[in-house]
Amino acid sequence: MTFPRPAAVIVLAAGEGTRMRSATPKVLHRLGGRTLLGHALGAARGLEPGRVVVVVRHGREQVVAHAKDVDPEVVFADQDDVPGTGRAVQVAMTALDAAAQAAAADGGADSSGAVTEGAVVVMAGDVPLLDAATLGELLAAHAADANAVTVLTTEVEDATGYGRILREEGTGDVLGIVEHKDASDEQRAIREINSSTYVFDAAVLRSALGRLNRDNAQGEVYLTDVLAIARADGGHVRALRTDDPVLVEGVNDRVQLATLGAELNRRVLEDWMREGVTVVDPATTWVDVDVELERDVTLLPGTQLHGATVVREGATVGPDTTLTDVEVGPGATVVRTHGSLAVIGPRASVGPFAYLRPGTELGAKGKIGTFVETKNAQIGEGSKVPHLSYIGDATVGEHTNIGAASVTVNYDGVRKHRTTIGSHARTGADNMFVAPVTVGDGAYTGAGTVVRRDVPAGALGVSAGAQRNIEGWVLRARAGTPAADAAAA
Ligand code: UD1
Ligand code: MG
Repeated sequence: MTFPRPAAVIVLAAGEGTRMRSATPKVLHRLGGRTLLGHALGAARGLEPGRVVVVVRHGREQVVAHAKDVDPEVVFADQDDVPGTGRAVQVAMTALDAAAQAAAADGGADSSGAVTEGAVVVMAGDVPLLDAATLGELLAAHAADANAVTVLTTEVEDATGYGRILREEGTGDVLGIVEHKDASDEQRAIREINSSTYVFDAAVLRSALGRLNRDNAQGEVYLTDVLAIARADGGHVRALRTDDPVLVEGVNDRVQLATLGAELNRRVLEDWMREGVTVVDPATTWVDVDVELERDVTLLPGTQLHGATVVREGATVGPDTTLTDVEVGPGATVVRTHGSLAVIGPRASVGPFAYLRPGTELGAKGKIGTFVETKNAQIGEGSKVPHLSYIGDATVGEHTNIGAASVTVNYDGVRKHRTTIGSHARTGADNMFVAPVTVGDGAYTGAGTVVRRDVPAGALGVSAGAQRNIEGWVLRARAGTPAADAAAA
């Protein structure tokens, strides 16, 4: 789909979101790995507009900080005490002019700079499934019909609360939008609703914004009034109706947040399945929108992939695994694991019951096995930490085996220290590596060794004292117990 790049996208995010009943501003609630605002900004930026403006008021500091994080180029507009979506767009246009002037003063090429021509997209910040493709269709329809305004609409079963679309009989052109509270019974019977997503011709928008009033049931400045004004001025006002209402559904409470979150996830999984990913149980598999999967990946039930997680070709993840910002190499297996900010090499094996903390890097064909925790640890190609161990702040070379129940004792109560273990080493079970300490290439250590001093390459390190057996102790000290009886027999 080709569509003209808009001059600006205005994202409305000043509303309070009372029904969330939350200390967190509504647009900062999350689904699919992004905030509501993050989804809106992603779609907005996908149109490659001249500028993106976010209108803010409630929870301003938090919303601004987050939006800057997501998209540092965003311009902010502060809505004042005057309520309504029309007021929101008025302040957005003023902020756009100020940004253009600032850019011109900075030596920008265009000294006028203000948005006086081209398309201006307006969208709400709380409509998470609205994507750049849908906005692109709206822009394409707007350009194709040379419209003054194009509004995205949909039909719903229960239109209560929404603005209704008034169409001219015959042409189907839009006469205007009437808000639920201002509508007659006859108008309330209309099921085609305003999604709050529009493309405006910039000049039409500017001209109409100057003529809005608060003459309505809510005493607000309605953006929706722009449509009737634009038509009265002789412009074409049309609607693009989507038959997929979920695309334009806003979040008002946490029930909708969960419902739309599940729907988004269902769509994300379907897309991946069509790309060649096996999802055994979509109902219990959650994949954030920014996750990347390759062909012949298998996701087993109970898998959650978050953030910037990447799973390479042929890898299997799950069951019951949660990975955040983890890279899983091709052909690797990750079973019943909780991990974040870790890299798992090609054909490596992790779990069951592993905990990979940030900075874990497991080499090709390496193993982090059962009941093993790792942190800030590089474990080389073919090296194994199979059982019941903690490996933190450590470097392990290649083809080394760490015995069961071993711990890198990395913390002296004040500072963290590193353990370095070479390649082709064989450390015994139940070893404590008291860092900072180094075990050389090809070294061995005995079972139960507390490694307090470096073990040179090729040496055997042992620290346990000689074993002493006290003959007949159980018969004397535990007479009458089953153990004593068994010993006597
Ligand atoms: C608006 C539309 C209505 C449409 C509905 C879709 C108007 C007058 N009405 O209703 O036709 O069917 O959206 O959900 O536009 N916002 C601001 N500043 C404000 C008010 C709202 O930035 O002063 C933002 C909100 O944060 C939200 C969006 O605008 O992101 C929509 O506001 P909301 O109150 O949900 O919609 P309504 O005004 O009720
Ligand atoms: Mg409102």
